Amino acid sequence: MRNIKLGVNIDHIATLRNARNEKNPDTVEAARVVLSSGGDLAVMHLRGDRRHIKDSDLERVRREVKGMLHLEIAATPEMEKIALKVRPDSVCIVPEPAGGASAQGGLKMTGKLAELEKMIGNISKAGIDVGLFVDPEPQPIRAAHNIGADSIELCAVKYSESWGKKLQIKELEQLQLASFLVKELKMNLSAGHGLDYYNVVPVARIEGMDCLNIGYSIISRAMFVGLKTAVAEMKRLMQ
Ligand code: PXP
Repeated sequence: MRNIKLGVNIDHIATLRNARNEKNPDTVEAARVVLSSGGDLAVMHLRGDRRHIKDSDLERVRREVKGMLHLEIAATPEMEKIALKVRPDSVCIVPEPAGGASAQGGLKMTGKLAELEKMIGNISKAGIDVGLFVDPEPQPIRAAHNIGADSIELCAVKYSESWGKKLQIKELEQLQLASFLVKELKMNLSAGHGLDYYNVVPVARIEGMDCLNIGYSIISRAMFVGLKTAVAEMKRLMQ
C-alpha cells in the first residue's frame, strides 16, 4: 500500500461559519476531525482579503490542535510575517489573483524571483518547509528549485477541468512529466486544486507523489456523510 499523504483544506468550514458570523462550524474542531480521520495535514489559506480563514483561526489551530499544519499564503511581507509568527510545519506560496477569484493557475514568477527567493530564505531559516504552487511545466519548477524552494505543489486545475474530455490524458501526462522533474530535483512533491472523488486516483498513482491537498470536494461531501467519513473515503481512494 502506498503511503501518500492527504492534506485537507478547511477554508470552506470558515466560509460557512462566516455566512452567519457565528462560532460554528469551528475550524479547530474541523482540523481535529481531519487529523483523526486519515488526514495528514490540516491546510489553511490565509488570504489577504480574509475571505474565509481569519488570523484567529490560524492561531487557534496552531495552538490548540496537535498535528501538521500547512499554510497557504501569497508572496507578501504581511504573510511572511504571519508565517514566521505562527510557525506552521510547512508553507506553500500561492497566487492570489486580483478581484478575489480563486487561483486558476500556478504562481507567475517573472520579475519576482529575487523577492520570492528572499521570502523562501527567511521562512526556511525558521525551519519551515517552503513550497511553491506552480503549473506542471519545467520552467517554473526549475525556477522554484533555483531560488531554494524545498517543495513543489503542482497545480492540477487543468487536469481537473479536463476530466471526462479528450484533453484529460494530455493533462495527466503533463502532471506525470512535471512530477518526474520534481523528483529528479529531489524536491517534495504534492498536487492540488479541483481534485475530487472521481478524478483523484490517476493523480494519486503518479510515481513519487508525496501528498495531495484537497478541500472543496471533501468539505462538500462532508455535508452529506460527515467530515470524518468524507476524509476517510478520500484517503482510502488515494492508497
Ligand atoms: N492547493 C492549493 C495551493 C490551493 O490554493 C487550493 C485551494 O485553496 C487547494 C490545493 C485545494 O483546492 P480544492 O479546494 O479545489 O480542492
